[in-house]
Amino acid sequence: MRLEGVESTLAGTTVSEAVIETRQAGSIEVEVHGHRSEACRELAGAIAERVRQRAAEGRVYVLGLPTGSTPVPLYAELVRLHREEGLSFANVVTFNLDEYYGLSPENPQSYHAFMRKHLFDHVDIPREQTHIPDGTVARDQADQHCRDYEAAIRDAGGIDLMLLGIGHNGHIGFNEPGALEASRTRLVRLDEVTRHMAATAFGDHDHVPEEAITVGVATILEAREIVLMAWGSLKAKAVARAVRPPVEAAVPATYLQRHDAVKFLLNKGSATWMDPS
Ligand code: F6R
Repeated sequence: MRLEGVESTLAGTTVSEAVIETRQAGSIEVEVHGHRSEACRELAGAIAERVRQRAAEGRVYVLGLPTGSTPVPLYAELVRLHREEGLSFANVVTFNLDEYYGLSPENPQSYHAFMRKHLFDHVDIPREQTHIPDGTVARDQADQHCRDYEAAIRDAGGIDLMLLGIGHNGHIGFNEPGALEASRTRLVRLDEVTRHMAATAFGDHDHVPEEAITVGVATILEAREIVLMAWGSLKAKAVARAVRPPVEAAVPATYLQRHDAVKFLLNKGSATWMDPS
């Protein structure tokens, strides 16, 4: 992470005591923290610094956002920074990675609902500056909706920082195994591993949607910086595979090796399978 003039963990210049280890895995900078909460505190602090710097310049800061369990402590820390340290999100623009196809924004399992619950309802971000794919778009309008989503990202000036989680099968967003590097925002079928992991949230496997709208691999790789977060030993194998060659469609997170400003933010559990540097 090499933004000029920014002294933060993202920039790789300041490393706090909470960091157990930093290492380079090919092109990917890996930072291992003792606990996910410490990792999220540092990441949120670095984001706050960027947001404030842009505000001082009269510019927006554009974030790509994931849902799921991984970013929950990050969003909690961003909300705390807003409430207790006056961090304003008035100049922040967001684009979520994905949404289940067929779920309305009111559905509690939708990613719209997730984002309201964990972030948007608790900070001062203008609602028109937040973007999430529409899971209710008619099938014959889906392609146009996806093109419009890409156009909205371009109109916002591109994504400054793309935040990611990782699936057990190595997916990023809902770019499932087999996704192409050139893929763009589109309607996709969810992998069975992904549906299995979501079964608890939906009550049972049969209630998990079969499709989703996701931004593409190419959309993700166009972000200026990328931070992938992963916590816990259940993610360790996917993380280890993601940082290692070959880059292949079978593990979409390996495409991140092609980007020159990617950081993996891990805790002890998710780093257990990585080779020593
Ligand atoms: C969600 C998304 C997914 C998740 C991944 C990990 O918006 O894009 O790629 O980041 O499935 O999910 P959790 O964090 O629930 O383990």
